[in-house]
Amino acid sequence: MGKQEPKKASFYNPPATVPLEPLSDHPQPIASLDSLFEPPSDDEWLGVMPNVGEPFAPVTKPAELPEVPEVPLVVLDAVQAKILGEITPSHFFITGPVGTGKSVLAGQIIAKLRALGRRVNITASTGIAAIHVGGTTIHSFLGTNICGSIAEAERNQRDLNRNAEFRLRSTDVIVVDEVSMLTGDYIDMMDWRLRTVCHSKLPFGGKQILFFGDFLQLPPVIKDPRKVERHFAFQAKAWETANVQTRVLTINHRQGDDAEFSRHLDLMRVGKFDTATAQYFRQCLDRRLRQPIILYPTNVAVDAVNQAKLAKVPGSVEQFPANVRGDSRACEMLVRNCIADVFLKLKVGAQVLVIKNSVGGNEYRNGERGTLTKIEPDCLHVHLETEGHERDVTLERATWEWRDAEQRILASLVQFPLKLGYAITIHKSQGMTLERMRCDLRRCFAPGQAYVAVSRAKNAKHLSLESPLQATQVFVDKTCAEFYARSRPKARRIG
Ligand SMILES: Nc1ncnc2c1ncn2[C@@H]1O[C@H](COP(=O)(O)OP(=O)(O)O)[C@@H](O)[C@H]1O
Ligand SMILES: [Mg+2]
Repeated sequence: MGKQEPKKASFYNPPATVPLEPLSDHPQPIASLDSLFEPPSDDEWLGVMPNVGEPFAPVTKPAELPEVPEVPLVVLDAVQAKILGEITPSHFFITGPVGTGKSVLAGQIIAKLRALGRRVNITASTGIAAIHVGGTTIHSFLGTNICGSIAEAERNQRDLNRNAEFRLRSTDVIVVDEVSMLTGDYIDMMDWRLRTVCHSKLPFGGKQILFFGDFLQLPPVIKDPRKVERHFAFQAKAWETANVQTRVLTINHRQGDDAEFSRHLDLMRVGKFDTATAQYFRQCLDRRLRQPIILYPTNVAVDAVNQAKLAKVPGSVEQFPANVRGDSRACEMLVRNCIADVFLKLKVGAQVLVIKNSVGGNEYRNGERGTLTKIEPDCLHVHLETEGHERDVTLERATWEWRDAEQRILASLVQFPLKLGYAITIHKSQGMTLERMRCDLRRCFAPGQAYVAVSRAKNAKHLSLESPLQATQVFVDKTCAEFYARSRPKARRIG
């Protein structure tokens, strides 16, 4: 799979245009404000999720140094390296099509800023995205519970987490990945919260914000549109006041080997679907692939297909309950957002999907598929059917973690890094690379959904479509398209 072996990170020598100085005299939290910080009680730190698992080993208390997640070594492409060099202490929005390495670049920017002494916090708009980048949700970082606007936060002052206030003050940079899933109202609330807590009139309370994401992928999930004034993050007042600068990544690392597929995906991303693109995707119609994974817009369809296919496999079902430990609320969040199953059901002969890289990433990788060949108490044997790299691997249990803003582990889930591999939802597939896939896009309901689905494939030869791709399935939100058109002259497109 991986064509390149990890090499020395190129961020050590970026072509910096405006060098950042180490923060030697950065203000520390004012002593009188410390009284606002009440460390959680032991019960909160050592909570147990009922009937799920054992108490988690004591987590690091605030006084101790937080554990910093490892940053994988990667050689940045020219565009990534240029943007890394351009990061000054301003607010940025780093965007680009799928697979252009936004999340990878986020990791490298964080490492660089931390090396310069900045206190950086990693967050994302959803739990799944937070697990992907080794961070926490922006909601839990801000300590605003489920409030989605300034009005809601003002109304629910008592729900605001006072512990969060200390960490908000004692942070320099806040990274927010997958920002397209946050509303403009939410960004304005984030600005309000930071200004209030930090007693500052500056945008975002004087904290540097680095947004990552793509507004042409899946939008925020809004239950009642009448209650939301500003739907997209870039419509927030704070986005304008803070003068968020846009940078665009352009080199696709996922579909890099299939230029034509990549070109049609780029057109789909901006809602362009002409006869040439329709014609191009005709080659995928009902393409026969060996055991493809099927992507559906809805959960109902996914569960039905997975269970029906498992039932057809001869033999008895083996159940693997996950071991979930930690603070009860954090366990709940982890279970709700983790891609791993709490009750994994498998049979020898079932088709499975690997959902996590092996340690080091050399043995097996997230997104590879195969057949379960043997079950042992502490390991599962899988025959991986990756094109050109078929092999037998042994998978041991892996750990998923839910961390707080200081990177302390609040909950952990231990499970085999496998799922039934017959079908998954498009929402769950965001961020994944899939080897051989089939899409049923007939019930697509969100802008960008068809684009997110087909762009999981690395090349068109490994993509099969249930029905012809139609112009009605490929649509973007007009406001988002306008945002990109408007910001094009300002956005520094490099490469
Ligand atoms: N500079 C790079 N060199 C090699 N692979 C890269 C590089 N940047 C990103 N990738 C790979 O490309 C894929 C997509 O990267 P990711 O950061 O998830 O993209 P995005 O967040 O833009 O969708 C991942 O498999 C990642 O490891
Ligand atoms: Mg990403």
